[in-house]
Amino acid sequence: MNTVEQATKQLMTKGYMDMKIPEGIDLVAEINRMRKEKNAVILAHYYQSGEIQDLADYLGDSLQLARAAAKTNADLIVFCGVHFMAETAKIINPTKKVILPDTQAGCSLADACSGEALRDFRKQYPDAIVVSYINCDASVKAESDIIVTSSNAEHIINSIPKEQKIIFAPDRNLGRYLNQVCQREMILWDGSCIVHEAFSLERIAQQMAENPNAKLIAHPEAQEDLLRMAHFIGSTSRLLEYVEKDKANEFIVATEEGILHKMEKIAPNKKLIPALVQDESCHCSECFFMKLNTLEKLYLCMKYELPEIVIEENLRLKALDSLNRMLELSKTIA
Ligand code: 13P
Ligand code: SF4
Repeated sequence: MNTVEQATKQLMTKGYMDMKIPEGIDLVAEINRMRKEKNAVILAHYYQSGEIQDLADYLGDSLQLARAAAKTNADLIVFCGVHFMAETAKIINPTKKVILPDTQAGCSLADACSGEALRDFRKQYPDAIVVSYINCDASVKAESDIIVTSSNAEHIINSIPKEQKIIFAPDRNLGRYLNQVCQREMILWDGSCIVHEAFSLERIAQQMAENPNAKLIAHPEAQEDLLRMAHFIGSTSRLLEYVEKDKANEFIVATEEGILHKMEKIAPNKKLIPALVQDESCHCSECFFMKLNTLEKLYLCMKYELPEIVIEENLRLKALDSLNRMLELSKTIA
């Protein structure tokens, strides 16, 4: 094991607890200084904390961030999101060093499916192709024929001949939703997002009753019953667009609450109500994984250029095929 691998292992087991941040340091100024000095680009997802979103060179949904990673000229990609997103950046742009503030920033959807399990599963359906949601690890991407995100899934699935049998992994909620809008009968893997499954139908119905002019907007990772109640369903970028352009002035937002930071900026005069979750002691719909990234960890990560995303080359090349198909098939999607 070389020094970088050793340090990465230490970070993964002990986190940053042994690493001191000098007292009184201006983290934002230091991050900005390192960004210039190291020719780094900071990519952040809409579910990151507001302070991280404000520092990002590119803020976006999974598709926009994958595209930004593909075309960057930076030497260092600092990915403020979850592991599968940083891994995707490395698969697409392998000559760049990709770092993620906290490698424990996982995803319940990615955890729900492994490449090996998917390989076994598809043996039952020899004439089916596998379409996987980008929220999966490299081994699942390598076993898939096409990757989709919530922004391009409908478009890509509609481009596949109707008679072609499809296995859709790993999100059963997004899969069910796509079956409905694309009029397909895809075979669904049984995974889900713990954040989007935590919403409470009863409490949201109550919020709708209390705010009769508000429109309910939801991410397609949410459960069927909630999606049925929604006025609009879309990826994070589509939800943002909708709130900005729609005539309504009030919205109940059923996705991870980090999105409100950007929504408030683009629609400052609209009332944005975070949809309530089942746990009554908690108002929020936070993704624990996304919020593992903090300003302190971002600073340390840029300082030490660790933890770095490393992928075995054969695996990377297989995963790249399915990602390239996605990029090709969704060229016309904004
Ligand atoms: P999008 O931003 O692509 O809609 O994805 C949502 C999500 O759950 C990311 O983990
Ligand atoms: Fe995964 Fe859900 Fe968190 Fe997105 S919000 S990273 S799908 S656990």
